[in-house]
Amino acid sequence: MFFKQKQKDYQLDQNNIPKHIAFIMDGNGRWAKKRKLPRTYGHHEGTKTIRTLALEANKLGVKAMSLYAFSTENFKRDAKEVEYIFKLPKEFFNLYFDELMKNNVQIRYIGHLELAPKETQMIIQDAVKKSSENTGLILCFAFIYGGRDEILNTTKLMCEQYKAGVITLDELTEDYFEKHLMTGDLPPVDLMVRSSGEYRLSNFFLWQLAYAEFVFDETLWPDYDEECLHRAIAIYQGRERRFGGVLK
Ligand code: FPP
Repeated sequence: MFFKQKQKDYQLDQNNIPKHIAFIMDGNGRWAKKRKLPRTYGHHEGTKTIRTLALEANKLGVKAMSLYAFSTENFKRDAKEVEYIFKLPKEFFNLYFDELMKNNVQIRYIGHLELAPKETQMIIQDAVKKSSENTGLILCFAFIYGGRDEILNTTKLMCEQYKAGVITLDELTEDYFEKHLMTGDLPPVDLMVRSSGEYRLSNFFLWQLAYAEFVFDETLWPDYDEECLHRAIAIYQGRERRFGGVLK
């Protein structure tokens, strides 16, 4: 007989739950390769992790969870893999949308969704629309997103606003700029987690991560679970955040 090993119980401080957690979901391909399965199967398994973490983060009172689902650079991958990833939103929302709605989760996306196939666009937009009144966790998919692209586009917008006399140079503050990023109405990112033992940002949230705490976990994304999330939050809670100040 097999018994599921008891999960490690991390004592989390309910008064210090990160408001916004950003995930770089990595390791789907390696997870599949280890099992001699096609890479796409790893992506399929990876969507289950999204459901698990969204429900758990919602329970813990996290306000927003952002997921790096497809980068502007991911178009360099094999066309068949890209095609498969673009089908994942349909699979994901078919399986889990009702449950996420019941749990009051609000779906959002950031990125160049207009570059995705029409059907993918419609599926994501529909989920966003139907869940827009929900007041629980904001589950934000960064889909065809790149950090440099976002900063450059926001800079261009600021230039246009300046030229049109909407703002003066003095009014162009960090706060003002930040509000015009794609994440403008989300809370600041407190914690960034990357799975699979890679130590890079890969062009994700270059502005937003300025003061975030980083946790790098060896677990491959399809195996990342509630226990890993609790561990990441426990590590976050053990850190002293100084925001450029000095130790108290
Ligand atoms: C990284 O693993 C994962 C991705 C590039 C894609 C993950 C995308 C999803 C799970 C899509 C979810 C989207 C929605 C809207 C449900 P990798 O392929 O880089 O893994 P490797 O480094 O092991 O090769």
